[in-house]
Amino acid sequence: MKILNYGKQHLDQNDYNALKSKTFKEFLTTGPLVKKFENNLKKRIGAKYVASCSSGTAALHIAFKSIDIKENDVVIVPIINFISSVNILMEMKAKIYFADVDIITGQMTPKTLSECIKKNNLKKVKAFVTMYLGGSCQNNALFYKIKKKINCFMIEDACHALGGKYKINKKFFSVGSCEHADISTFSLHPVKSITTGEGGLITTNNKKVFEKALLFRSHGIVRKKNNHWEYDVISPGLNYRLSDLNCSLGISQLKKLNLFIKKRNKIAKIYFKLLKDIDAIQLPALFKGIYSSWHLFIIKINFSKIKKKKSDLFKFFLKKNIRVQQHYIPINEYSFYKNKIKGDFKNSKVYISQVVSLPIHYSCSKKDIINVCKNLKIFLYTK
Ligand SMILES: Cc1ncc(COP(=O)(O)O)c(C=O)c1O
Repeated sequence: MKILNYGKQHLDQNDYNALKSKTFKEFLTTGPLVKKFENNLKKRIGAKYVASCSSGTAALHIAFKSIDIKENDVVIVPIINFISSVNILMEMKAKIYFADVDIITGQMTPKTLSECIKKNNLKKVKAFVTMYLGGSCQNNALFYKIKKKINCFMIEDACHALGGKYKINKKFFSVGSCEHADISTFSLHPVKSITTGEGGLITTNNKKVFEKALLFRSHGIVRKKNNHWEYDVISPGLNYRLSDLNCSLGISQLKKLNLFIKKRNKIAKIYFKLLKDIDAIQLPALFKGIYSSWHLFIIKINFSKIKKKKSDLFKFFLKKNIRVQQHYIPINEYSFYKNKIKGDFKNSKVYISQVVSLPIHYSCSKKDIINVCKNLKIFLYTK
């Protein structure tokens, strides 16, 4: 039975061919396909340095290590976020502060970031992490101004936004080009813009950061160029490498990135057309100068106003073999973090009470989207 998920990978015959054993010849890992994948990404994204790694979570860990985040360093993150960055910062014993989000987009904004700094009287901030929820990369130039003003690092958790672009002064920049961030991180998990199975990336224009990233990605080991037997460990590191197998798939998938994002944009347009006249639904906000990767199509419904339960909507869709989702439960609502986070994040509470992520990915047909909209209307209009 086919289940329509909110997100899914799309593999074609070229991708399956890329996974054939003869592709790898000598190397299954640390081979030439890793370099090739990274070079292709460099060209596509426009950052000076790209390092692949084993997941988006690994990418964040590498990013934090490469800017030397230490115990008690202050790092600010949005309260609505995938849990990776917070879990890692917790492990690293950083002092984590949370910024509320914009009630419309669910993203931290320059305003909520500044409020967090002011409210908590933060004199020295080591870094803040932006997250482009759903794939719409907002405010990065303004965030970058703040980063310069308070002299800290800015990391973009761009896991939702590979393939996205933003325009400043009539010029388009690719998300990840790091023109307005110190480091960008990406996930290559199957629901993301392209996939390598599991996988991640960090991009930067800072050579020092990149060198530290490479060290941490691979045990802190350095090798002499021509004498392979001469190696040394110059700092602690882990094994966060991405294998040639994964990179071979990545090389093939990357060729389809534009196609995938175009299709996601097309699906978004269909949703807009089919849902625009439904009062109970608030469609995603569109912003001038932003080309979204449409990782998620998030609609909002004021469930208390229509006297229905959000959980009933999920159950209703499941019966129709459609798995919608909610992104994300605010971090201060998770059991582990509940008592560790102080403050009231008003917007995040409203946001999570309303959001539903509808299916959007390359394999969705027009018929699928029409079916999702039809069922949504049935749910809303049935007493
Ligand atoms: C915003 C964000 N950051 C980080 C991650 C972690 O990526 P991965 O699952 O590849 O570790 C995800 C994954 O869903 C994500 O959505």
